[in-house]
Amino acid sequence: MPNDNPMLELVLALPEQLLAGYEAGTGATARATGRSKKADAPRSLVVLGMGGSAISGGLLAGLAADTARVPVLCCRDYELPAFADRNCPVVAISYSGNTEETLAAFETAVGRGCPVRVITSGGRLAEEARRRRLPAVTVPTGLPPRAALGLLFGALLALARAAGCIRLTRREVVAAARLLAARRKAWRRRARTLAAKLGDGAPFVYATDRLTEPVAERWRCQLNENAKLLCHSSVLPEHNHNEIVGMGAPRAATEAHIFALLARTTHPRTRLRLRHLLSITRGAYRGATVLEAEGESRLEQLLSLVMLGDLLSCELAAARGVDPLPVARIDELKRRMARN
Ligand code: PA5
Repeated sequence: MPNDNPMLELVLALPEQLLAGYEAGTGATARATGRSKKADAPRSLVVLGMGGSAISGGLLAGLAADTARVPVLCCRDYELPAFADRNCPVVAISYSGNTEETLAAFETAVGRGCPVRVITSGGRLAEEARRRRLPAVTVPTGLPPRAALGLLFGALLALARAAGCIRLTRREVVAAARLLAARRKAWRRRARTLAAKLGDGAPFVYATDRLTEPVAERWRCQLNENAKLLCHSSVLPEHNHNEIVGMGAPRAATEAHIFALLARTTHPRTRLRLRHLLSITRGAYRGATVLEAEGESRLEQLLSLVMLGDLLSCELAAARGVDPLPVARIDELKRRMARN
């Protein structure tokens, strides 16, 4: 599927990346298991990361919610949560390997004796993992971190599974990759329609349960970074207990086009809530589109909506005439922070 838009090509490569990441993660855990003692059953799993690296942790938490035996927490900060101890596996993800928040929390995790694993393409995190002989998955370099989602998330799935934190089979991962590959052309057309519906309106993304919550977040971040657009995201049913009152103000908010993300996991009462919400607040937003996840498994449904949002961000970048690749403000902030 050749085209001259590198970000779009990377987005379309999500299924291939997912499989490659999962295989790399499986290989790394097989090597590590060969040299370590059998660990106690984990009490929780903490994923460290920021931005395009952290989203894999968020997606895993959404995937694991309601099915996993232990809680999965995505930590996007300098500080490791107090509960994390030697029974709490920690996965530090930084695509560049040089993100200061992730490195700080990683140091604390190692100091506390947590079983730490690493997913990175290099940088200081790779060096530290080598020096301390920690299990590490090394992904190819040279990509924008957010466009390495399949590699990072695939690897994380394998590590979480090996740590006994989630139930997942290779077959499920392969099935999800197949669905994405089979549907990507159609979703690209869909994304074009969605971009036209949004027009110059303000994107508001509503999640409708714990599975879709990190997907809404991914949509927001991809619209921020690829389309260079501010985007609001929120979660039902909680939205119905506060945000519903504020809808329509300030005046710019009446330009909102709502994208509501639904999955089979969405509670029937939440579906009803969405219908009532859109009716009660008519006039406080410009338009609304309800999107249903595709696929059978939680993983398929999660990734079907992720890929649609990623494609939408590329369509919006094209419509706005912006280059989806550079993130100059993030780079400038990192440069300034590195000086002092
Ligand atoms: O998309 C981006 O470039 C950012 O959100 C980065 O992912 C974020 O700054 C963290 O960097 P890294 O992923 O290299 O740890």
